This record gives sequence, C-alpha cells and structure tokens, in this order.
Amino acid sequence: MVSTSTQPARIVSGMRPTGALHLGHYHGVLRNWLRLQQEQECLFFIADWHALTTHYEDSGEIAEHALEMAIDWLAVGINPGLSTMFVQSHVPEHAELHLLLSMITPLGWLERVPTYKDQQEKLRERDLSTYGFLGYPLLQSADILVYKATQVPVGEDQVAHVELTREIARRFNHVFGREPDFEALAEEAVRKMGKKQSRLYRDLRKRYQEKGDDEALDVARALLESQQNITLSDRERLLGYLEGGGRIILPEPDALLAPNAKMPGLDGQKMSKSYGNTISLREQPEEVDRKVRTMPTDPARVRREDPGEPEKCPVWPLHRIYSDRSTCDWVEQGCRSAGIGCLECKQPLIEAINTELEPIQERARELAEDPQRVRAVLAEGAEKARDLARVTLEEVRQAVGLKYR
Ligand code: TRP
Ligand code: SF4
Repeated sequence: MVSTSTQPARIVSGMRPTGALHLGHYHGVLRNWLRLQQEQECLFFIADWHALTTHYEDSGEIAEHALEMAIDWLAVGINPGLSTMFVQSHVPEHAELHLLLSMITPLGWLERVPTYKDQQEKLRERDLSTYGFLGYPLLQSADILVYKATQVPVGEDQVAHVELTREIARRFNHVFGREPDFEALAEEAVRKMGKKQSRLYRDLRKRYQEKGDDEALDVARALLESQQNITLSDRERLLGYLEGGGRIILPEPDALLAPNAKMPGLDGQKMSKSYGNTISLREQPEEVDRKVRTMPTDPARVRREDPGEPEKCPVWPLHRIYSDRSTCDWVEQGCRSAGIGCLECKQPLIEAINTELEPIQERARELAEDPQRVRAVLAEGAEKARDLARVTLEEVRQAVGLKYR
C-alpha cells in the first residue's frame, strides 16, 4: 500500500534503557540514527515505561540506566541540535494515547504478536503474565502515532510491532474518522480550497477512484499538503475522502529496516547482552584486547600450522565490519594458507575497535562529569516532543468524542 501520509518524513524510534550500550547498538542502530538525523526530522526517546513492563521487580536502576544511555547517545554523536531526544515518561501524552488506543484494540491482536509468547518463553524467570506486558506493543504504537511518524527505524524483531501500529491506526481512523455527515463536510472542505484547486482535487480523486491511478493519489496528497488555508481537520477529511473512507487522523507509519542490524558478537551469534558476547562502548582498551584475543576461532585450526577457513570463524564477520579490503584479503589468504596466526589476525581488529571507541569514551567521560548538561538536553527534548504530542492528542480526544467546552 502507498503510505497514507502527506507529512514530510518524520522519524521516531526508541530504545529501552537496558544499561551500558555495546557495539551491537552502535553498529546496528545508532549509526543508522546518525545518518537519519542528517536527512530528516528525528525523535529518539528512552523507552523507560517499556523497560518497566519487564523489569517492574527491579526497577530501581531504570532512571540511572536512562541517563547512562543518554550519555552514550550524545557521545556517539546524536546531536540535540538535529534530533529531539527525550525520556518517554516525560511525555505523558504517550500514556494517554496508549489508553485511548486500548479501547479499540482487540485482545487477540496483542496475543498474536510474536514477541509476546517469545519473550515470555525467554524471560521465564520473570512473571510476564501482566496487563502491562501484553500492552507492550500497543504502548509502542502510541509512541509512534503520537508523533504521526512516517518512518520507524527498527530491527527485524520489531517489524511486527510496526505492523500492529499500522493496523491500530487503520482501525482508529475507521472507528473514529467516520462522521455521520462526512461526505457533506468533505464536500464543503473541497469548496474551501478555491475554484481552481477544487477542480484539480476532484479531478485527481476521480482518476484515483475510478482508474486506480496511484500517481493521481500522490499528486492529490501533495496538493493537500501545500494548502495553507484549510484546517487540519479539513485536511484529514480531504485525505480520507480521496480514498473513499473517513478522516485519516492517525497516518500509518512504515518500518525502516536498519541496513546492518546484525552486528556479530564475540562468539559469532548476534551481539546481545543476554548472550554475554558484547563489547561495551565504555570497554577499556585492555579489556577489548583481552576479549578479542580470547575469541574462539575456526575449530579446525588447532595448531598454528593448520590452515583455517574464515567463513567458519567468528572473527571474520568482525573484519568484514572493521577492516578494509586489503586487510580482509590478508586475512583470507593468511588464514587459508596458515600464513598468519590467529592472534596476528586479531591484532588489526583490536586496534580498529579501540580507535573507534577512543573518541566516544572521551566524550562520554566529559558528559558523565556534567550530568546537568545531559538532563538539560533531555528536558528540552521532552518540551519539544510534548509540543508535537499535544497537537495529536487534541485531535484524538476530539475524534474520540472527549471534547468538553
Ligand atoms: N520495543 C523497542 C525495542 O525493544 C523499543 C521501542 C519502544 C520502540 N517504543 C518504540 C522502537 C517506538 C521504535 C518505536 O527495541
Ligand atoms: Fe579466524 Fe583469523 Fe584465525 Fe582464520 S586466522 S581462524 S580468520 S582468527
């Protein structure tokens, strides 16, 4: 389906404050964010409520972890001048939208989200048969829809949550976007655009509805976007009217899959705290050295003279990330001919990782010494985010019928 949004791209993503970030977060997520913040409006938040859904029994560290994470984000280069970064619970509109969405969310939709059963299986030591945990992906939908995000950068495991978000948005628009006098209101809104624009809109709408002309749909959306003198509600009506339905109050976002989301860990599996195979962004050089040196290699290389096969070695995928073409050639040839030893092979990797981490750690140290500065960034981010979220909630309350005056 074509995106239902006429808005300029707005990117929203969140991360749970799980403690020190590692190279998996950096290469799999943050580097993608760094690129996106150069190109588009971005909102990045620390999902402390999401952390609470699984860690309610040991919630004492969430706030501390959140601050640490904010430091790491800033240290890697998330720029508060370009991105809005904040703490989820500082923007209570997320919770209000979550509540309102819960009214129209069939239980089965939540029970069917694959992460629901998976996580319950995986985190057996925690009791996750709670209302909050079932609602995890719905809270995520609220995080996204409260900003009318157009794109949501996520890993593979989160795609189902974005898909649910789209379904929820559709259902919300279907239930609350239908006004009894929708057609009449839409027709009135068409007239308000002025003679020339109205004719163009009608023409494009007809081309789309009668001939399924997607291009006409895109042009019509752009036309609506450029209208300065119609109200937001009218714009939503005209958008919905284009496609024949009701008003589109909450647009459907698209998932944006990170290009290299699977950063390999020290053992060849995906790098993840739960596998204990990580290198943290705060890892000291000696520790990086030790961790890489003790990495397992191709099990066929028992002795130095035995040739090896990079494809069977967990060190190789790291070279693919950190090393240039000539170093990779040197590894492949040296390994297969037993021309180099494994420690030798690992050396350029150790250096590359430490070189990458050095400036990050330097900035993290400075920030850690000035937590007030970090708190100020988060406070300012929450203010900006709230300004956006409030506008959506106004519309949502009105659409739902909670309008008192
Ligand atoms: N559930 C996401 C994760 O575990 C974190 C998250 C919460 C999120 N809210 C979000 C991601 C909104 C994207 C958009 O990684
Ligand atoms: Fe792995 Fe390098 Fe040893 Fe080959 S030489 S087995 S790629 S560490």
